[in-house]
Amino acid sequence: MKIRPRRLRTTALLREAVAETQFRVAQLVQPHFVIEGNNDVQAISSMPGIERMGIARLVERVGRDLELGLTNVLLFGLTQHKDLRGASATDANGLVPRAVRALRERHGERLTIMTDVCLCGSLEHGHCGVLKDGKILNDETLPILSAMALAHARAGADVVAPSDMMDGRVAAIRSTLDASGHLDTALMSYSTKFASAFYGPFREAADSAPKSGDRKSYQMDHRNAREALRESLLDEQEGADILMVKPALSYLDVIRTIKDRTLVPLAAYNVSGEYSMVKAAAANGWVDEKLVVREILNSMFRAGADLVISYHGREAREKGWI
Ligand code: PBG
Repeated sequence: MKIRPRRLRTTALLREAVAETQFRVAQLVQPHFVIEGNNDVQAISSMPGIERMGIARLVERVGRDLELGLTNVLLFGLTQHKDLRGASATDANGLVPRAVRALRERHGERLTIMTDVCLCGSLEHGHCGVLKDGKILNDETLPILSAMALAHARAGADVVAPSDMMDGRVAAIRSTLDASGHLDTALMSYSTKFASAFYGPFREAADSAPKSGDRKSYQMDHRNAREALRESLLDEQEGADILMVKPALSYLDVIRTIKDRTLVPLAAYNVSGEYSMVKAAAANGWVDEKLVVREILNSMFRAGADLVISYHGREAREKGWI
């Protein structure tokens, strides 16, 4: 007798019958960069196919995405008003709260609205926390993040997603939300977030690059897998409803490790640099974009992601790749 695994690969139908990984469009999250200027649209040179949009255009675009089955959005606000305390981030009439209200008004409960909670876009120096004497102050940053999350929750966000990597922010945000009666606002923590060169295009898109230094004193060292697990488990204990690994593609092992040790859903962020590499290679004719995008998305779900945040979502649906 010969063992022949190839038997089950004989026909397309048989391969389909034994495929282990499958995902639903409802598991994808489409990120959006929101700008002032209601009807403005700006291309992002390093991320072909992705645009920054004013609120009116965003509402329209999300309407079209809903028809493709894309029911989850993750909002990033690009404010012009930067200072040393992140005042625009906590403004009840800031860009993100206004965008949330406009989306809810037009699309109601058909849409799940997630918002990124971080100060890098509203602080002059571009770091994710309050800076003093060259140091990022952890505990001084927590009340500002909590106020930002509260502003988003009050506007009607379903899920707030802190991406700053300050210690203790999940507990701080949760208790602020609960004390203000926002018991049902879910918290998706960027729980295991690495200091990564794959964020390069995003920082151009969101104008959020640190003006000096790097993010290595708060984001994780990419060599550490045990610490990656520790970070996520701590956020679960602090009350995170969804955990996240970011970036995704170089960290599939980390996704699997965390998945095996947690009972809450796990998101993977297929970040800007991962997207832009595929776009550049495809534009040069070096890879088949459809096949590569399918392979990448499937790999993240196979590794254990329950949700995948990806810039590929819209195009993949429009073109019937997924
Ligand atoms: C803000 C934030 C970043 C990303 C999401 N939220 C950038 C960073 O931490 O430098 C990256 C997303 C992407 O690259 O697609 N802290």
